[in-house]
Amino acid sequence: MLKLKQLYKRYATGDEALKKVDLDVPNGQVLALIGPSGAGKSTLIRCINRLVEPTSGSITLDGKELTTLSPGGLRRARRHMGMIFQEYALVERLTVMENVLSGRLGYVGFWSSWFRRFPRDDVREAFRLLDRVGLMHMADKRADELSGGQRQRVGIARALIQNPDLLLVDEPTASLDPKTSRQIMRLICELCEERGLAAIINIHDVMLAQMFAKRIVGLRLGEIVYDGPPNNLTPDVLTEIYGEEDWEATIEVAEDDEAPGSDESEDGEIHIHKGESFEETAARAGD
Ligand SMILES: Nc1ncnc2c1ncn2[C@@H]1O[C@H](COP(=O)(O)OP(=O)(O)O)[C@@H](O)[C@H]1O
Ligand SMILES: [Mg+2]
Repeated sequence: MLKLKQLYKRYATGDEALKKVDLDVPNGQVLALIGPSGAGKSTLIRCINRLVEPTSGSITLDGKELTTLSPGGLRRARRHMGMIFQEYALVERLTVMENVLSGRLGYVGFWSSWFRRFPRDDVREAFRLLDRVGLMHMADKRADELSGGQRQRVGIARALIQNPDLLLVDEPTASLDPKTSRQIMRLICELCEERGLAAIINIHDVMLAQMFAKRIVGLRLGEIVYDGPPNNLTPDVLTEIYGEEDWEATIEVAEDDEAPGSDESEDGEIHIHKGESFEETAARAGD
């Protein structure tokens, strides 16, 4: 269980991004956090893994307070939290496989990570995940050769190879076309279900949120103004969250597509010669 209590964030600029937010997310629950740009969605999930330092309040994951952890404790706690970004945050010149394995850097020891070497089991797991997200045939491609949807699949595999208990997902479809957006949201939600993973998925697209999440939390100016099932999101509630709009739009359901590839590939130890650690990438990744 993830518990936020009176979570408050004021940036150095004086912006109050979160105003004493209370939120409980039970284990295994997938929650969509909606709200307009600037509502505080990114701030909220970044406070949880402390890419952003909360100003006050408490965040506990399975009873453990996260806001007061030492650097070592924070590193260990972050292993339990996978993050997926809007802009993917891949290392462009590394391969798909290397990007996925970079999700293990929180686990492998200092010397191994220094030499960018990974245990065989990690490599095997990376192949399994690539297969699951439909990218087995692309393991050796460089990240900069992929389409947006493929890049996000790599981002998903990289988050899952950490074997997290909680996924923090920030606008995973904001750079994707509508059909790919649905496929990516479906994949994330299916994987959460398969693995009993809890997730907070920030998403400004109301229809996508309604299609895939059983619980929706609406954020406006740093405050929760809605918490409930998707079918209670009436035009009035949406107006409260987003402001005046025509909310009577209908939901179209996209058909499913491609089956995952299934190449059997050689495995072995992977060496990443260049590039940066996932944490460096994550810290740098924009909103
Ligand atoms: N690094 C920052 N420094 C100062 N203000 C920030 C920073 N990041 C976000 N904000 C402000 O905090 C508020 C919430 O932003 P954000 O969490 O990015 O919202 P969302 O993800 O919902 O678009 C906005 O007013 C934004 O301008
Ligand atoms: Mg954001």
